[in-house]
Amino acid sequence: MFPLADGVEVLDVGARRFAWNGRTGRHVAWPDDDVVSPALLHRLAGEGMVRGVSFDLASLVPCRGWLAMWIGDVLWHADPLSTGAGGRGWRALPLAGWEAALWAHVNDARTVAEIASALDRPIDEVLAAFSRLTAFGVQAVQLRAGRPRPGDEGLRRQLVAPPTPAAREAGMYDERGATALADWHRDIPSARRHFDDVETTVAHALELPHPGLGGRAYGEALGRLFYRRGWLSGRVVEVGPGSGAVAEGVLRAAPGLDYTRVELAPALLAAQDARLPGTRGLLGSATALPLPEASVDFLFANEVIADLESVPGREGWINTGAQAFLAEIRRVLRPGGHYWLSEFGTVDGEAEEAAALGHPEVSIQFGDLAAHAASLGLGARVEPLAEAIGLDLAAPQLWRGSYEGLRAYLRATGRDIEARAWHPGNLELPFPVDGLHWTHLADRGPGPLVTHFYAMGSA
Ligand SMILES: C[S@@+](CC[C@H](N)C(=O)[O-])C[C@H]1O[C@@H](n2cnc3c(N)ncnc32)[C@H](O)[C@@H]1O
Repeated sequence: MFPLADGVEVLDVGARRFAWNGRTGRHVAWPDDDVVSPALLHRLAGEGMVRGVSFDLASLVPCRGWLAMWIGDVLWHADPLSTGAGGRGWRALPLAGWEAALWAHVNDARTVAEIASALDRPIDEVLAAFSRLTAFGVQAVQLRAGRPRPGDEGLRRQLVAPPTPAAREAGMYDERGATALADWHRDIPSARRHFDDVETTVAHALELPHPGLGGRAYGEALGRLFYRRGWLSGRVVEVGPGSGAVAEGVLRAAPGLDYTRVELAPALLAAQDARLPGTRGLLGSATALPLPEASVDFLFANEVIADLESVPGREGWINTGAQAFLAEIRRVLRPGGHYWLSEFGTVDGEAEEAAALGHPEVSIQFGDLAAHAASLGLGARVEPLAEAIGLDLAAPQLWRGSYEGLRAYLRATGRDIEARAWHPGNLELPFPVDGLHWTHLADRGPGPLVTHFYAMGSA
């Protein structure tokens, strides 16, 4: 084997191979045939990974990863080898005595030598303590040649880790390879925490009033959009209302509406019944609506159509379930009636299966779906969801990784946190946290990425 410096090892992680420097928390891609080219040798030497080539660790700058936080009196960090549909597993790293002060001194600018001097410890002791934070299984800190460049996101937001395996159960596809999620939805055991842990929606993430919506919740913003467009009169039907949060908001914008809910999951229908007195609930499917022909003035479905069937075709996925739903919408709408659908997807690109979810939702190809709507004689205006509801994408929210870390810590101590787009005005934590990160609504937060969502409805 090539003469690697102490603390350097070649690791196989998933399909990737790299040399890991346990003293700095840095890595370099390693060739499958173990042949070290002159260019690779140069890189390895520059990262202090070659035995006999001198390398000054004391002058390096320790930089924080965003997937580590000091919570209460313990350093919590994401585990590179534990990942699933809900995010990464997190663990506590016990640090005692003066070592516990190390994290507070890491500010992406001070060198190891400066930190050692501030702590009044020998450099070798400080480097040994850092090696616990830079270990492959921790990755809380990297020792770098200088400050990270602005926008050097890789260092902060990601771990060197194998890819998340797609979590799938038998029966989620049929014999054609089409997605088949009806039974999975019918078996949802309870509304409680389903939208926090299993399928968080934009509506759920924005169920609390948010500055990005002028201090309103998502459902109310949607209700105001429908009201402005003149769609909230006569018989209104919502398909797939989930927790009932959207209905609650729409009814706040237009109290006293004639409101019917159609829901496939009995447990969710029961939760909606309890939450929404004065509305009518029907057990049934979007693709076989339990409603008479020409009986509805306005029908909408928020984040439902990716749950319907998609079939793999020669040129990519076809959203056959959403097409069947449109045919049903055409059947039940009164002449002059309106509809509105929202979902994650694309207008020009290809529909794709979302690998990170625990069930195979396929994104919507809105260009094709709009053409299908037109062929049925339905108008089809497609617009980015954020634009439709006037969502300010620059408004703040808690960064996804920080949410996962807080959730892990709270669960380990018998508590929990809902998957909301928390912002500095409403996240109150009864313990100190050093390393929490805020971002904005166009970035990854506790809910889905809202910039991937479109709305399609009557023109
Ligand atoms: C992703 S959730 C969205 C919930 C809610 N609309 C929201 O935005 O938070 C999908 C909802 O549609 C329901 N659903 C899934 N397939 C359905 C179908 N074929 N017919 C009716 N409802 C369905 C689910 O049970 C759930 O209530």
